[in-house]
Amino acid sequence: MSKDTKERYGTVSRVLHWAMAVLILWQALKLFDRIDDGEHWVGQTLVPWHISIGTLLLLLVLLRMVWTARNFSSRPDAPPPPLLGFVAKAGHVLLYAAMLLMPLTGISLMIGNGYGLTAFGIEFAARGEEIPWLATIGTLHPPIAWLLLLMIVGHGGMALVHHFVKKDGVLRRML
Ligand code: HEM
Ligand code: HEM
Repeated sequence: MSKDTKERYGTVSRVLHWAMAVLILWQALKLFDRIDDGEHWVGQTLVPWHISIGTLLLLLVLLRMVWTARNFSSRPDAPPPPLLGFVAKAGHVLLYAAMLLMPLTGISLMIGNGYGLTAFGIEFAARGEEIPWLATIGTLHPPIAWLLLLMIVGHGGMALVHHFVKKDGVLRRML
């Protein structure tokens, strides 16, 4: 399995990055529930996978964090100038925080409200009593989702600026 180098991200990092990007954008389709109370074909076909995919994303982000930690010293450096490089790295840390908090708050929302947790047909927690403090943590799920979506727009936008305006090869090292 190819590890990260200073020149480009390795296979594991690239597969995790793009697979998770697709799944996270799929998760964002949950916003379609706001259209006619979910009475939309997207709400009826893709959104019902929200709990299963969200739970899978928890596993994937934990794997990704372990992989990133193991490759930390050999990954590509931020391009100059140093201040913008620092902002980019800080942005990546915030993306990691949001990718971890989304499933954690989603699971808190389900279990805290007594709905239980079933993903891909496997029951991880049965329906039960409400747990108010866990439900309170769950209320953070929608606001963090909006913040994550904003960050993704900024992040993807900057990647395109690097590719088409600065032409410095930053996008290519993740492709
Ligand atoms: C990276 C993973 C996840 C992302 C990106 C994500 C994203 C979203 C988004 C964008 C919404 C709509 C928010 C709104 O309407 O303002 C939402 C709602 C919701 N999510 Fe997730 N989610 C994730 C994981 C999970 C997980 C793991 C669960 C449960 C186990 C979950 C359960 C829910 C529920 C129940 C709602 C409806 C909340 C409400 O209407 O109050 N999500 N999520
Ligand atoms: C759900 C969407 C996305 C998330 C959560 C995300 C997250 C991340 C994170 C955390 C990194 C740091 C490297 C790592 O640890 O993997 C990264 C790097 C990168 N991402 Fe994304 N990303 C998303 C979508 C995109 C999109 C749509 C593009 C392109 C348009 C993109 C282009 C890049 C590039 C070029 C890098 C490497 C930057 C560098 O070397 O400094 N990402 N992404």
